[in-house]
Amino acid sequence: MASRKNDRSAWLQGPAVPCKDVAETLQIPWRIVLLGAPGVGKGTQADLLHRRLHACHLSTGDLFRAAGQQKDCDQTPAMQQALAYMRRGELVPDATVWEMVRERGECLRCAGGFILDGFPRTLGQAKALKKFMDEEGLSLSAVVDYELPEAEIVVRLGGRRTCEQCKAVYHVKDRPPQVEGQCDRCFGKLFQREDDRPESIRVRLEAYNRSTAPLIEFYRSLARLVRIPAMGSPEEICLRTLSVLEVKRDLDLDYASMRKV
Ligand code: AP5
Repeated sequence: MASRKNDRSAWLQGPAVPCKDVAETLQIPWRIVLLGAPGVGKGTQADLLHRRLHACHLSTGDLFRAAGQQKDCDQTPAMQQALAYMRRGELVPDATVWEMVRERGECLRCAGGFILDGFPRTLGQAKALKKFMDEEGLSLSAVVDYELPEAEIVVRLGGRRTCEQCKAVYHVKDRPPQVEGQCDRCFGKLFQREDDRPESIRVRLEAYNRSTAPLIEFYRSLARLVRIPAMGSPEEICLRTLSVLEVKRDLDLDYASMRKV
């Protein structure tokens, strides 16, 4: 497939909103999960990987923030509760997260594949995703775990700015927009996320270590895990990721053909 827009309408606005750029069937679509502490660069990498692999970038954080922009009367009680958890930097309960992801099952079934960013985040979510994929006859290509020292994470989060409209991510020093406060792509207004305040960052890092780090063992045991250092420029990290993904895919294909013989 030559190109495919990162059309996340159905993901961000719900199943009633059709995706404008439905993928043709790829021979082997990429279905990837990105793991790593808050601020490690998952969203930045998801965007770069999308341009090379054409799978859509599906972020649960963006999904919740998009729901938060709806008028209060359109927000369900579960969504209002979820937004309160997010503001404090805590994880949203599994049942609420899975309900929203399951509603968007079409995005997970998409023939263009997916790049999941921020989901799964607990063992319960990982098991729910695995059950869904097993039932649908889908398999994960890889789970990428990005690694970065905590001090660098705090610097990245403190300078982050996000586009209100297209959710593109910038950094005031390392990845500034051409015009201060304005998105290069859609000219939307850039904002600083509420949970990028120092007290919320601390809670998020603790939640990551407690709930998300155990997923590494889960995916290692399923032979899906690849670990990638997240130091260097975003483009360098993306190239590093692509080469590891290609090697993993070749090894998986070799293994599958050996099992057939
Ligand atoms: P979410 O939106 O998923 O946030 P997160 O995981 O905390 O990750 P971030 O988006 O903060 O960071 P990132 O790794 O994507 O880094 P980025 O690319 O932006 O979740 C937010 C909240 O929603 C959670 O706390 C929770 O409450 C809730 N939630 C979401 N999903 C949930 C789930 N499944 N279950 C329960 N709750 C859930 O980069 C960061 C900055 O660094 C940017 O400014 C960027 O420009 C810069 N940068 C990136 N790469 C580089 C580089 N190589 N060099 C220098 N700067 C860089």
